[in-house]
Amino acid sequence: MTDMHLSDAIRYVGADDTDIDLFESQYPVPNGVSYNSYVILDEKVAVMDTVDRRRTGEWLEKLEAVLAGRKPDYLVIQHLEPDHAGSIGALAERYPDMELVASAKAVQMLPKFYPACPNPTRAVKEGDALPLGKHSLTFVMAPMVHWPEVMVSYESAEKVLFSADGFGTFGAIAKDRPWIEEAGRYYFNIVGKYGAQVQALLKKAAGLDIAAIAPLHGPVLREDLGFYLGKYDQWSRYEPEEKDAVLVAHASIHGNTARAAALLTEILESRGAKVKTADLCRCDQAEAVADAFHCGKAVFLSSTYDGGLFPPMEHFLLHLRDKTWRSRTVALVENGSWAPAAACRMRTILEGMRDIALFDEVHTIQGAVKEADRAALEKLADELLAK
Ligand code: FEO
Repeated sequence: MTDMHLSDAIRYVGADDTDIDLFESQYPVPNGVSYNSYVILDEKVAVMDTVDRRRTGEWLEKLEAVLAGRKPDYLVIQHLEPDHAGSIGALAERYPDMELVASAKAVQMLPKFYPACPNPTRAVKEGDALPLGKHSLTFVMAPMVHWPEVMVSYESAEKVLFSADGFGTFGAIAKDRPWIEEAGRYYFNIVGKYGAQVQALLKKAAGLDIAAIAPLHGPVLREDLGFYLGKYDQWSRYEPEEKDAVLVAHASIHGNTARAAALLTEILESRGAKVKTADLCRCDQAEAVADAFHCGKAVFLSSTYDGGLFPPMEHFLLHLRDKTWRSRTVALVENGSWAPAAACRMRTILEGMRDIALFDEVHTIQGAVKEADRAALEKLADELLAK
């Protein structure tokens, strides 16, 4: 299993959560999630973030074992979202003299979560240092990665970047899953909206000599750091990982639109295209969002519903819009038996996104897929692959 301890002096005290139903009450996490927290033991003791209140007891037990009777001098709060800040109150109550070290914005926001917290606070800014002895933390502001108060911390003796949500992934540590397996789904759904802010953080990180990245979710990253930094650079520039790959995503009421999607997939694959598919009524839409970012092209096929767009497709497109999906080539297929209207609504949503090359021509199916539809889907596939 991944060794989460950085060294004898930088210890992991985080906790896995494998019985949570939905992360952020919306994302399935079949492999669970970890809430990472670390302790730096030196002349001074710093605790790096806390954990979700779902794991406060386990975290405090681990923390006390590592502290071995010492008291923490500082709690460094890099991010106030409750999956990390949920146990601040419990620690503050136990150690009322412990100083809370955070960005000015976080210090300002802290009373929103802990109105009666008695501990002293220290607001730090870009480049401020917190000497601990041999170890020393330097703070780097990272607003909107993924809340406005976020900062990351660089420990110079062991060259560790404590990266807050950045470089995190879903999956409990005990599950020992490869980082990349859920990192895209995590990134695009949690941090993906904030590409420009991630780019700003990457530029600052480029000036640091980093030996390990210690995020707030998922494994500590130690080797081949260029791979992880490269992924974040590509993702935050909204570049597809495979510009010729096609996402075929459908929302079908009675199965006819699903049959059109299957036929289109077959046609595309017969022409050598790499295709990812999503049944938006049944799949994890967070996975479909990640696939939409992965592919350079997409075809959305939807039934008409109540004179508009079938809700699973509407929900998906709005989610893509909110995550600032952009710079892709898109074709539309609608189905409507008497007054097809799905494409009009899909077009309206897509036209609100940046740099979407949207096919003018829409193919409309009326009920079941017929031979004429095959010919139209073949034409659509040829035109899409020629782009
Ligand atoms: Fe893992 Fe934005 O909290």
